[in-house]
Parts: sequence; structure tokens; C-alpha cells
Amino acid sequence: MRKIQGIYKVASNEKLCPKFYRLCIDAQPIAKKVLPGQFIHIRTKDGFEPFFRRPFSVYRAKKHVEVFYEVVGPGTKIMSHMAKGDDIDVLGPLGTPFTFPPKGTKQVVMVAGGIGIAPFLMLSDVLCRERATALRGAELILLYGGRTRGHVYPMKEFKENGCQVHVATDDGSVGTKGRVSELFPKIHADRKTTFLYTCGPAPMMASVQAFAKKHGLHGEAACEEVMACALGACLGCSIKTTKGYKTVCCDGPVFDLHEVIFNH
Ligand SMILES: Cc1cc2nc3c(=O)[nH]c(=O)nc-3n(C[C@H](O)[C@H](O)[C@H](O)COP(=O)(O)OP(=O)(O)OC[C@H]3O[C@@H](n4cnc5c(N)ncnc54)[C@H](O)[C@@H]3O)c2cc1C
Ligand code: FES
Repeated sequence: MRKIQGIYKVASNEKLCPKFYRLCIDAQPIAKKVLPGQFIHIRTKDGFEPFFRRPFSVYRAKKHVEVFYEVVGPGTKIMSHMAKGDDIDVLGPLGTPFTFPPKGTKQVVMVAGGIGIAPFLMLSDVLCRERATALRGAELILLYGGRTRGHVYPMKEFKENGCQVHVATDDGSVGTKGRVSELFPKIHADRKTTFLYTCGPAPMMASVQAFAKKHGLHGEAACEEVMACALGACLGCSIKTTKGYKTVCCDGPVFDLHEVIFNH
């Protein structure tokens, strides 16, 4: 797929909850092409600091390209100060998208930890549409784990897409107390009719993989690695898979769930 690089306008940048922001970019050429699971690469500032672009999943692509992000360092701090009308340099769409659940799927489960929720709203937009045709009658389930109340983004849009939402927090301040794996009993776990997607910290995705292995389930994992070029040139984002080392930026970020060797 042809990558597009351009300078676009920030349409809005909103603080959604103590930890997370939502940036809307008026980037129609990317919005028209991007598929769920793909990402964009943002140059947060002209000059040398930060030197590299920063990768972000596309959270939604309707009127604008939306990014849901957590402030963790200099690049995301700069982003948090962007305002309507500012210029922003974006490259994308990049990487591999999620594949559609196989025929006969009756339960689609998205398992997300923290900012790993980011690729799933756009995926749920597509799955929700397909419930009228190819996925008729299928349940959509989101299992979401956050550290504490301030890390749990309101789940209204997922619910509007018909998702059953179950939340777990480490301290029990919202939903079930404990890790997202506490919510695995919500999964029907039938090898022919259940399909999993996961994104989040590696240990969490490893627990989803172990669960899937135990029950013979198929699925996909959206992986994150620190990136530089995002074009397959530097190999800086390589991860270990059952098929050798692969780059997250070009071979991924979406991989078969059973292919990734999670280091934890
Ligand atoms: C394909 C992909 C999609 C992503 N989607 C999103 C998203 O939708 N929303 C979001 O908030 N973040 C997302 N990230 C992570 C995001 O790119 C980083 O948080 C961002 O680059 C941090 O930049 P910074 O300058 O603020 O902090 P930095 O100073 O670059 O990093 C701060 C800390 O976070 C660590 N870190 C940076 N990038 C990563 C990473 N990829 N994985 C694990 N640790 C990392 C650094 O090692 C450092 O400890 C994604 C990453 C990838 C690879
Ligand atoms: S970031 Fe350079 S190869 Fe992926």
C-alpha cells in the first residue's frame, strides 16, 4: 500500500481522562485508506529533539484520523500541547491490518491492556458494520485492563458499537480487581466460533496466547516496539517469532497470535 506523507491540520486535541488524550487530524487521504490495526508515524516537532517520528495506532478514521495516546515522554508531551489549527507532519498508513474473523465466528473478543485499547475502536466500527452481514449474530466482547480508575477510558463508543465491555483494574477501583486475565471466563472459548484480538503489554498478550493455546483458539496480536524508520530499513523494531525475527513496522504490527514469542 502506498504511504502518504503530508502536513495536515490538527482538528482537535482533547484530554479524555487523567492519562489519555485524543488527537484528531484533518488527514483525509490517510483516513480514506487506513485499515484497523495500521498505524501512522508522527513527527512531533521540527528539529532534532525528538529526532525520530513516533508511531501511533489509528484509533478511528471517520471525518478525521484519530489517535488515542498516553503522555509518556517528550514526543507525547509535545503532542499534548497541540491545538486546533496547528500543523502536524504525518506518514501513513503503515503496517499490516487486522484480518477479518473467519467464517462461522460467533464470538469476537478484543483483549486490551492500557493504551493497547487504541487499535480496537476502529476495529469495532468495522465489526459492528459486519454484524449486519458476514458476522450476523456474532457477539463482540471487549476485555479491558487498566492500572487504576485514571487509566480507564470511558467505554461509551465501544458500547455504542454493540460491544459487551468488561473492565479489570489492578486496584479494583473500577470493574473486577486484578489483571485482565481475571476476565477470561467471559470468553466462550470454542475453537470453531471464537476469535481473539489482543494488544497491550507483552506479559498480558502472553497470557492471552496461553489461554488461546489451551483452548485451541485462533487470533491476532497487535505488537508495539520502539521504532525509528518504520519503513523496514533499520531493523530496530524486530521481534522474535516462530518464523524468525520480524519487523513490527512492516511485517506487523499485527501478527498471528501464536506466531509471536513474547519476552516476559
Ligand atoms: C505500532 C505502534 C502503535 C502505537 N500506538 C500507540 C497509540 O495508539 N497510543 C499511544 O499512546 N502509544 C502508542 N504507541 C507507543 C508510542 O509510540 C510511544 O508511547 C511514543 O513513541 C512515546 O514517545 P515519547 O517521545 O513520548 O516517549 P519516549 O521517550 O520515546 O518513550 C518513553 C518511554 O516509553 C518507552 N516506549 C516508547 N515507545 C515504546 C513502545 N513502542 N513500546 C514500549 N515502550 C515504548 C520508552 O522506552 C521509554 O521508556 C505505539 C507504538 C507502536 C510501535
Ligand atoms: S523501525 Fe526501522 S525497521 Fe522497523
